[in-house]
Amino acid sequence: MILQVLQVNTFYGSSHILQDVSFSVNSGEVVSLLGRNGVGKTTTLRSIMGLTPPRSGSILFKNKEIIGKPPYEAAWAGLAYMPDDLRIFPDLTCEENLDIAAKLSRHTGYWNRERVEELFPVLRARRKQKGLNLSGGEKKMLSLGRALMANPELILLDEPSEGLAPLVVGSLIQVIQEIKEKNVTILLADQNLKFCRRVCNRGYIVEKGRIVLEETMEGIWSNEEVIKRYLVL
Ligand SMILES: Nc1ncnc2c1ncn2[C@@H]1O[C@H](COP(=O)(O)OP(=O)(O)O)[C@@H](O)[C@H]1O
Ligand SMILES: [Mg+2]
Repeated sequence: MILQVLQVNTFYGSSHILQDVSFSVNSGEVVSLLGRNGVGKTTTLRSIMGLTPPRSGSILFKNKEIIGKPPYEAAWAGLAYMPDDLRIFPDLTCEENLDIAAKLSRHTGYWNRERVEELFPVLRARRKQKGLNLSGGEKKMLSLGRALMANPELILLDEPSEGLAPLVVGSLIQVIQEIKEKNVTILLADQNLKFCRRVCNRGYIVEKGRIVLEETMEGIWSNEEVIKRYLVL
């Protein structure tokens, strides 16, 4: 088990958002957090990363407690995070955005700029373009590329398929499969069930800050009642 989240409670001010959230991710898996808008998926990823420190619980990454540690320590431990707002540097070029991510990381490994550009040919084609001049899909690829440049063991992706044209979602599915083959474990939050079905092994359904179901993606896909109750608006 690479990640074990146990009874995590996270607040924004006095709002109790995550309520005893527990789940786990095995090494080599792609696992999704599924649920409607506002149920706490982003807060869960931010809690793991230390961006919104939980008030109680335990988060074990490779059997070491990381709860409440600052985000840079989570990164040192081997986690990387692609936030839903992507956070690329708008005034830096594509290649500078990638190079900086590698420089800030304490890890080296399979992923370097050459390999990331091989995975995302569009980033090679747009190498000298500033971040602000990229399309929404290209920004997403760059943000994911930046996460890989850190050579993490576990990568957290917030809404990877959101806002992408169907064709781009198709290439993202391939990319995630290739990343998985390189032994990077992935935990993602996404509302696109079709996309999750293609890339994930298992899913956890989140509702009002609680995990209400753990299932294989096929199990969720074929459970109309669960889809209606928790996933469709
Ligand atoms: N910075 C914040 N301050 C206060 N409340 C927040 C903040 N961010 C999110 N929330 C609230 O926390 C709940 C969970 O939000 P979020 O984790 O973003 O859900 P999801 O990612 O599933 O859409 C929502 O009710 C949202 O309004
Ligand atoms: Mg979210």
